[in-house]
Amino acid sequence: MNIIKKGAEADIYTTKWQNKRAILKIRKTKHYRNQNLDSNLRKLRTIKESQTISEVKSFGIPTPLVYFVNLEKTMIIMQQIPGKPIHDLSNPKIISLSKQMGKLVGLMHKNGIIHGDLTTSNFIYFQKKVYVIDFGLSHKTTKPEDQAVDLRLIKEILNSAHATIMKETWKNFLAGYKSIVGNSKYLQIKNLVSEIEGRGRYATVV
Ligand SMILES: Nc1ncnc2c1ncn2[C@@H]1O[C@H](COP(=O)(O)OP(=O)(O)O)[C@@H](O)[C@H]1O
Ligand SMILES: [Mg+2]
Repeated sequence: MNIIKKGAEADIYTTKWQNKRAILKIRKTKHYRNQNLDSNLRKLRTIKESQTISEVKSFGIPTPLVYFVNLEKTMIIMQQIPGKPIHDLSNPKIISLSKQMGKLVGLMHKNGIIHGDLTTSNFIYFQKKVYVIDFGLSHKTTKPEDQAVDLRLIKEILNSAHATIMKETWKNFLAGYKSIVGNSKYLQIKNLVSEIEGRGRYATVV
């Protein structure tokens, strides 16, 4: 077993599951949090993640297969997608894949799921397909405000982690999103994103 990421919330290892390349994701205790609350939160996110990863497959979102879940240890063993996070690709590639990211998010929203942690590290590009991972903060909701908050986060990530290509990536992302949810829904959500930005808790992103 090799550690590939020590995160704030979870550690990620590569491992084998029945001879197949697998990822072990284990949510760690946060000692500063009340221990009951911490344990409940880790369990809840482990359940959410394993459920949503499988659920979104049914309407066409590529995700890893879940091989094994241990709730007591708050760990998931899943298929390893041996590609690269979109975050790490070249700028031209990120620009061209943004439309596909937007389509995938549109498809989730259309089916009543918000991802909850839309960053370019949570999309993996492998064999010409974009996979979505990291569903621990996902929710079942069709509330436009929740969908707008989902979009606002990825917009913020594009602006901070991919600043030099923000304009093109956001344009392509929205084009993909619109192609799935339709024009009127798209306009509604886009307006809500502007409204959230206008509230001042967030700075407006160009
Ligand atoms: N199934 C997977 N296949 C390939 N890489 C993965 C997989 N799951 C996680 N990773 C890698 O580990 C990183 C962190 O995993 P993630 O589930 O996003 O946890 P975190 O909550 O720490 O962001 C990802 O950005 C990706 O690089
Ligand atoms: Mg992640």
